[in-house]
Amino acid sequence: MNFEDKINRKNTNSIKWDGHEKFNIHPDAIPLWVADMDFRTLPEITQALNKQVEFGVYGYAFEPESYFDSVIGWMKRRHQWNIQKEWILTTPGVVSGVNACILAFTQEKDSILIQEPVYHPFKNSIKYNKRIPIINELVRNNTHYSIDFNDFENKIVENNVKLFILCSPHNPVGRVWLKEELIQMADICHKHHVMIVSDEIHMDFIFKGYEHHVLVNLKPEYQDFVITLVAPSKSFNLAAFKVSQLITSNIDFKKRIEHEYERLGFHGHNTFGLLACEVAYRSGDQFMDDVVEYIYQNIVFIKKYVEENLNQIKVMDIEGTYLLWLDMSALNLDQKSLMEFLNQKAHLWFNDGSIFGESGKGFVRMNCATQREIIKQALDQLKNAMNQ
Ligand SMILES: Cc1ncc(COP(=O)(O)O)c(C=O)c1O
Repeated sequence: MNFEDKINRKNTNSIKWDGHEKFNIHPDAIPLWVADMDFRTLPEITQALNKQVEFGVYGYAFEPESYFDSVIGWMKRRHQWNIQKEWILTTPGVVSGVNACILAFTQEKDSILIQEPVYHPFKNSIKYNKRIPIINELVRNNTHYSIDFNDFENKIVENNVKLFILCSPHNPVGRVWLKEELIQMADICHKHHVMIVSDEIHMDFIFKGYEHHVLVNLKPEYQDFVITLVAPSKSFNLAAFKVSQLITSNIDFKKRIEHEYERLGFHGHNTFGLLACEVAYRSGDQFMDDVVEYIYQNIVFIKKYVEENLNQIKVMDIEGTYLLWLDMSALNLDQKSLMEFLNQKAHLWFNDGSIFGESGKGFVRMNCATQREIIKQALDQLKNAMNQ
């Protein structure tokens, strides 16, 4: 794969590239926001999809055995996680799985714990379902984030928390949680009978020197209260297909979650999504290694550029994901003015850090899964705007 190839995504109904007017963004702003990649997916996926398109009959579909084998194979090869077909529930997106778990395992007004700054749909899902978000703030130390475990446990006890939504690896702070950190969180949850929904959608984007641990795999007893959410959508740029997996060995849990989907009338699956997922997980090892390496080199490039040219900006450490967390608080702008400056003066479109929580004020999130040429252009524009 040549990730340097610039692909014109304009006029393709891409939310990232064509959403400027809808989101009131300067028409020339370079989009470095929503988490999809500007890379073509694995060619084998496109070939398989083309064949399916040519067939021309697109009726209701179920998951073939080969799909389950492929998901099982990827988890085993890439994550040393042995799962069984019966544990897999194919879902139309990870966020839908978060919501289904909230509905299946909590009641209205129950407390649900999250760790801000964090992927903002978690809090929305809690609120939309009339549950109460409880925040265990991540602790920032210069460019590194860690967990305040005392606060984590106190918040659980004081608020009678029923469910914890974990983001692992963490979007947007870029942490790949250590085994010890994961165990400490899960043991506290176990002690206080808190269920965990572990969103591991970024599990495949791990940089040199770090290792992703599937939480439920760390101790056998975690199977009794941890539900894992994964998807090929980030890893292989398949977000539009809306295919993801909710994995639990507890068949009763699975039935309860399935029931929530049934209540909403969800049934059947997208043939193209199933096929893309199957091919990705069967044949995508080299692609995955290569794309992670390309993104890693982008990050090395950004860090060097910022160090040499943009010393008011602090780049947070990034151990995994392709989302970089940038501290721009030294510019001394309130959040609205910061976003206006980036958008109107620098013509850049980042995610506003404050959507990830109060502690995200002064920050923006930058999507690094694009061509280095685009990144260089974006950084040059930022430098010029700041110099003015
Ligand atoms: C942590 C996390 N979970 C879930 C999603 C989205 O998942 P889906 O599109 O499958 O609902 C994202 C997308 O950025 C994400 O970062």
